[in-house]
Amino acid sequence: MCLVSAAGFAQSPGAAIFKAHCQVCHGAGGIPNPALERLLGVLPVTSPEMKQLTPKEMFSAVQNGKGKMPGWKSKLMDAQISEVAAYLRTLIKK
Ligand code: HEC
Repeated sequence: MCLVSAAGFAQSPGAAIFKAHCQVCHGAGGIPNPALERLLGVLPVTSPEMKQLTPKEMFSAVQNGKGKMPGWKSKLMDAQISEVAAYLRTLIKK
């Protein structure tokens, strides 16, 4: 894990966590590559389902996993999950 070096280049801790751990599937800016979207069922931040998630649902999806996404509770602390979920919400344009 290279959170320390990643954080040096990012605006916020949530953005650094997203780049380090989430972007590979969820894509830069929360738009997954179409092949992964089809293969894994990753939702883009522009999808209605993603827009409807409450902060609590988002937190628990990240913490415990959902569908083909593994849970992150063994890799990220609760505070980090909150930060990355908050960052993800900034990507969702309602
Ligand atoms: C291995 C690929 C992968 C990685 C890495 C990954 N995700 Fe996901 N994520 C998925 C998939 C696939 C789903 C869709 C689950 C479903 O709805 O079936 C998902 C769903 C979600 C959801 C719920 C949206 C929904 O589908 O209802 C959130 C929120 C989320 N991911 C956030 C994150 C965050 C934050 C990270 C980084 C800590 C992350 N993901 C890392 C693959 C990934």
